[in-house]
Amino acid sequence: MSTTRQIRKIVTGTTQLDGAGVKLVRVIGHDDTKEFDPFLMLDAFDSRNPDDYTKGFPWHPHRGIETVTYLIAGDIEHSDSLGNKGRILDGCCQWMTAGSGILHQEMPQPSERMLGVQLWLNLPRKNKMTHPQYRDITDSMIPKVQQDGSTVAVIAGHYKDTQGATQGDYVKTLALDVQLEPKSQWNIPTDTEATLFIYIVEGAGYFDADRQTMIESHRAVLFDQGDSFAIQAADSGIRFLLFSGLPLREPISWGGPIVMNTREELQQAFREIDNGTFIKK
Ligand code: FE2
Repeated sequence: MSTTRQIRKIVTGTTQLDGAGVKLVRVIGHDDTKEFDPFLMLDAFDSRNPDDYTKGFPWHPHRGIETVTYLIAGDIEHSDSLGNKGRILDGCCQWMTAGSGILHQEMPQPSERMLGVQLWLNLPRKNKMTHPQYRDITDSMIPKVQQDGSTVAVIAGHYKDTQGATQGDYVKTLALDVQLEPKSQWNIPTDTEATLFIYIVEGAGYFDADRQTMIESHRAVLFDQGDSFAIQAADSGIRFLLFSGLPLREPISWGGPIVMNTREELQQAFREIDNGTFIKK
């Protein structure tokens, strides 16, 4: 019997200052790790005022996670301890595997509108100390599928017969940017066991079978398990990001930019930062 995924939880998050003073909405975070496993955090940016974000995120470490930055609009300069340097621009995605350790800075530049997200994806215990790497996925590397009132950018995983720009090296991840015309319906088959949530960027939609509850933008919606996901766009149409992956079900020990499995591993990471041995050759 097929089961369409039902709404489990609607989350709005809280406005916070992070980095050197970047105003963002922490949509999911520390308190959500059990339900959103393997996803740890989602920060959302939507600003037309550069003062909200140009202080940026100066040099800081990460270990044990992947950070996935997807910009619908904006300009973020980045550089890292591996010697990479670049810019994330409109429609681009930076998929960074922190692994054993990376130092980087992420500095948003003034633009007409900064609109996007940063997702933290947990690494499985066996891959926490893997080699760090950046994957710069430019707009042209992300396939777009247009059909029946929908435009789907396949950032990761696959949609219909189209393979995304990446599959996720450690956690197989589905990441889609979905735009639907007003009142159009859209559905996909889903891995029954996988965690699936969306973040509504613009517009609104209905996710229940009787089309009673309209959910508007700037909210994340977590769904129960099931083998399909269905939505009907409201009169305004909708644009949302969809993320899905199998839960890791491993212990989490989280300290700021570092996420390990145990307290000892976390303490060791901070000791290594202090004594200069954090970055592995
Ligand atoms: Fe970072």
